[in-house]
Amino acid sequence: MRIDIITCLPQLLESPFSDSILKRAQDKKIVEVVVHNLRAYSLDKHKSTDDYAFGGGAGMVMTIEPIHRCISFLKNERPYDEVIYMSPDGELLTQALANQLSLKKNLILLCGHYKGVDERVREHLITREISIGDYVLSGGELAAAVLSDAMIRLLPGVLNDESSALSDSFQDGLVAPPVYTRPAEFNGWKVPDVLLSGHEAKINEWRHQESVKRTEARRPKLL
Ligand code: ADE
Repeated sequence: MRIDIITCLPQLLESPFSDSILKRAQDKKIVEVVVHNLRAYSLDKHKSTDDYAFGGGAGMVMTIEPIHRCISFLKNERPYDEVIYMSPDGELLTQALANQLSLKKNLILLCGHYKGVDERVREHLITREISIGDYVLSGGELAAAVLSDAMIRLLPGVLNDESSALSDSFQDGLVAPPVYTRPAEFNGWKVPDVLLSGHEAKINEWRHQESVKRTEARRPKLL
């Protein structure tokens, strides 16, 4: 999989991709993440990527020219499955959407800033808009990192224990059950006996029941 991220703040994306699972996935060549500085695609002498809104009002709007130039350059290199604009009013990111997008080969993620992008970008250059939640971030960079993480960890070979992504919350429509580790008792607080029993069938049954209980309590809409 290849993910191209277009941003006017590339520094914001350095740390999320240079540690832990996302770094390992790149080192193993399972995913290639390429960050593009939108300013490099601006032709004016100040390398600007935004301008005043027609009709007035507070806030700058990202201009179409550098975005169009960057996306055209990338599309000349390879075909893209989706060109995604990270936006608070986009389709809400869910595990199902992360699963679906993790099957794609090449994706472009465009990070918005300021008051948003010129609407013609959304109408003509973007195939999909995704939000990571109903709140407004300062820009799309953190949202692009969240979406990338949710997809990359699902790619075969990224997690050491192949089955561990399958037992994540939401993967089977339920949230994950509680987990415990040593010590078996701390401050008088005990680990449930069944987990120490060594009885695999009973443990699986207990985990499933706990998942259902937790889903009822925390995400009843999933049931
Ligand atoms: N940009 C600003 N807020 C966002 C959000 N909640 N999701 C995706 N992109 C965003």
